[in-house]
Amino acid sequence: MAEERSLSICFVASEIAPFAKTGGLADVAGALPIHLASQGHDVRMFMPLYSKIDSEKFALTPVEFLRDIQIRLGSQVFGFSVFVTKLPGSEVDVYMINCPSLYHRPGIYTGEWDEHLRFALLSRAAIECCQRMGWGPDIFHCNDWHTALVPIYLKTVYQWDRLFANSKSVLTIHNIAYQGLFPADVVPNLGLEEHRHLLFQQDLEAGAVGFLKTGILYADVVTTVSRTYAREIQTEAFGMGLEGVLQQRRRTVVGIVNGVDYEIWNPQTDTYISQTYGIDDVAEGKAANRRDLLSQLGLPNDEGGPLLGIVSRLTAQKGLELTFEPLTQALRYLNVRLVVLGTGESRYEDHFHWLQQTFPQKVCYYRGYNEALAHMIEAAADIFLMPSRFEPCGLNQMYSLRYGTVPIVRKTGGLADTVQLFDPASGEGTGFVFEHFDSTGFAWALKTALSTYRKPELWERLRRNGMQEDFSWQRQGAEYERLYARLASSG
Ligand code: ADP
Ligand code: GLC
Repeated sequence: MAEERSLSICFVASEIAPFAKTGGLADVAGALPIHLASQGHDVRMFMPLYSKIDSEKFALTPVEFLRDIQIRLGSQVFGFSVFVTKLPGSEVDVYMINCPSLYHRPGIYTGEWDEHLRFALLSRAAIECCQRMGWGPDIFHCNDWHTALVPIYLKTVYQWDRLFANSKSVLTIHNIAYQGLFPADVVPNLGLEEHRHLLFQQDLEAGAVGFLKTGILYADVVTTVSRTYAREIQTEAFGMGLEGVLQQRRRTVVGIVNGVDYEIWNPQTDTYISQTYGIDDVAEGKAANRRDLLSQLGLPNDEGGPLLGIVSRLTAQKGLELTFEPLTQALRYLNVRLVVLGTGESRYEDHFHWLQQTFPQKVCYYRGYNEALAHMIEAAADIFLMPSRFEPCGLNQMYSLRYGTVPIVRKTGGLADTVQLFDPASGEGTGFVFEHFDSTGFAWALKTALSTYRKPELWERLRRNGMQEDFSWQRQGAEYERLYARLASSG
């Protein structure tokens, strides 16, 4: 059960769905706060106002008392104003920092020379807006490297302000692969020159400063998005160089599996799909969605054989090279179809493009980002492929379970925590799980999935098991509430 006392939570993130999204962080940031607010907590959110955010569609309103604010970052002064809107479907206020010189760029992330300034400003702006609101939140919840300087700013630049005397900070690591590593000479421009001694000295000597590492050192609690990943990142194999500092702070490293927003990812109400369905009419629902999807993508409308789906950022993390050989064989010799949605590294894009050219009647590769298509694939596919090399949590496997789309996953991170290998003897389990990161492991899982698919009774059981799983924020969010409450009362 959630704790009684209502808390004030300042939630800061670089992306929040539906305003701006590149991956799962946006989904989490767009859903957890709604749950927290529904439990009576006062949640206020901060993110950049990127130029691609549609200010009319989201009815952004200027905040009178948050105009023309100036923040000095080293030798530069940045001016910004703030707009506010509600997180759709809730009363949660989302404050967007309008600083055109930093945020009016084609993408959310840029890799340009001033990337450190873009997110240092966000972190500082969130704190300064709280000051102007006269609001000292119980918890500052920051996410990933972009906002990981919030804890050190609270403990240095804003330490004088008694408003934050009782504020605690939580840093959630959604992905340790992105650390916000910059040359050490940016330190003055972060406004941290006077506090250099607090930064990780060995890194400075080596000429670098890391946002995420600094956050790990100074956040009151570090969380990550599954229990298995919390263990994994404390090892050399997964820690990407941060295992040492995480081990140092191991008593405050907590794994909380992400939730799913079932208002958005629910085949019974999904407005993107051509036919809604539930657990009792899943076969008919999927058949209708499959017909529509295949015809929209220009693939022959063939009823036979399973449809395989992939929706993914195409990066090394997602391990899709494991599918190359086994999928080519399956497409050559078996009655299967494949739909892939994703964009990223060219080695993956080129392969899926080649696969489509080689099997034009069986494969469609959609290169790009398409929210509607992501939902349509979940609804139409029979099997979802997620062979990740590492996966902090992963959301698509949980969406798949709810849509009756059986996931094939590698046993790592959140995939290990959310999908159980199906056991035909007991009828327990929700998907196909392989251990070793090699294509033999994936080939085994694919073969097992395809042979189970040919046994309709077993398949129905497996699909039902998955659809009955509950990863709602109602359940997962309570863990954050307990954590916040413990921190807030820790003095
Ligand atoms: P990650 O955050 O590592 O990308 P997750 O599984 O946690 O992985 O979340 C991915 C989210 O991004 C899901 O909501 C998924 O549907 C979405 N997504 C990824 N690639 C695309 C794409 N090309 N088009 C639409 N949605 C995508
Ligand atoms: C990251 C991870 C993914 C996780 C998401 C939300 O992008 O790669 O596994 O689900 O963040 O926490």
